[in-house]
Amino acid sequence: MSSNPPAKNDKLKENLQINPIMKTALVTGASSGIGATFAQELANCQYNLVLVARSQDKLQQLAQQLEKDYQIQTEVLSQNLTEPNAPQTLFETITAKGINIDLLINNAGFGDYGLFANSSLTRQLEMIQLNISALVALTHLFLTPMRQQGEGGIINVSSIAGFQPIPYMSIYAATKAFVLNFSEALWEENQDAGVTVTCVCPGPKETEFFVKANFPNSITESSQQNYTSPEEVVKATLNAFQQKRAHIVPGGFPNQLIANLPRFLPRETLVKAVAQQFRPKNK
Ligand SMILES: NC(=O)c1ccc[n+]([C@@H]2O[C@H](COP(=O)([O-])OP(=O)(O)OC[C@H]3O[C@@H](n4cnc5c(N)ncnc54)[C@H](OP(=O)(O)O)[C@@H]3O)[C@@H](O)[C@H]2O)c1
Repeated sequence: MSSNPPAKNDKLKENLQINPIMKTALVTGASSGIGATFAQELANCQYNLVLVARSQDKLQQLAQQLEKDYQIQTEVLSQNLTEPNAPQTLFETITAKGINIDLLINNAGFGDYGLFANSSLTRQLEMIQLNISALVALTHLFLTPMRQQGEGGIINVSSIAGFQPIPYMSIYAATKAFVLNFSEALWEENQDAGVTVTCVCPGPKETEFFVKANFPNSITESSQQNYTSPEEVVKATLNAFQQKRAHIVPGGFPNQLIANLPRFLPRETLVKAVAQQFRPKNK
């Protein structure tokens, strides 16, 4: 699959190419954080990988490392998933290469901190395009062949931000609520067709996410005691997926509380309480 595998593993790779039990996973946002960790863990489980993100260099580096460490095959496809045609292009490229995707991991996503009225509208719409539209398009494109084959899996990455509205992160939280609701509906729709759809709702983690989202230190510091490592998140998710669960909230009691409390509070009380935590400290 990859154009630059280490030569000494050629013989082994020829064997893997015809190995009927080898499965292939597509991971979006594989160049860092949770996506790179999914890639690592799936390589460890002997999945061949299609790695997608914008940063071609980072993807190539990861692909070469995983090929070397786990004797798997990889394909690197650099795509900007905020471009409306990117999912279709990705699907066509993968199909043309004769690759069958057994497991789709819709992980690419970003957030943006601040007052919605002062935010860049372009950035908010790009977030909706990446976190929602690209995820929906990729799910639709790859679900059809999975259903025809009577097997397959889709893991969608939401967040505990998806369980309640979040002032100062309004669009991000809304996109993650969409991902959770959409995924749970698909979990039910596709059970009898042999396709498992699992949604993961991680709590805060030490990845590049908060820096890219322009989060003030005062807020990230207060949530640091809740940090779960990307490794823990990915292991818990793959376990939940194997158990055919609709969703998983990794990270123990604090995250379970955040995910479940909103159901018992009046909505205005809830949104005011959340605002207290996320409001810029100088306001
Ligand atoms: N970190 C947290 O605390 C946390 C908590 C809950 C949920 N999540 C969710 O977990 C997922 C992964 O986040 P992370 O924490 O691992 O953050 P991250 O380290 O910033 O990773 C984000 C990934 O998405 C890719 N990406 C961003 N924009 C893209 C675009 N336009 N086209 C294609 N790929 C794009 C990035 O690669 P390129 O820049 O190379 O394109 C990168 O690989 C996200 O959906 C996030 O919402 C994160």
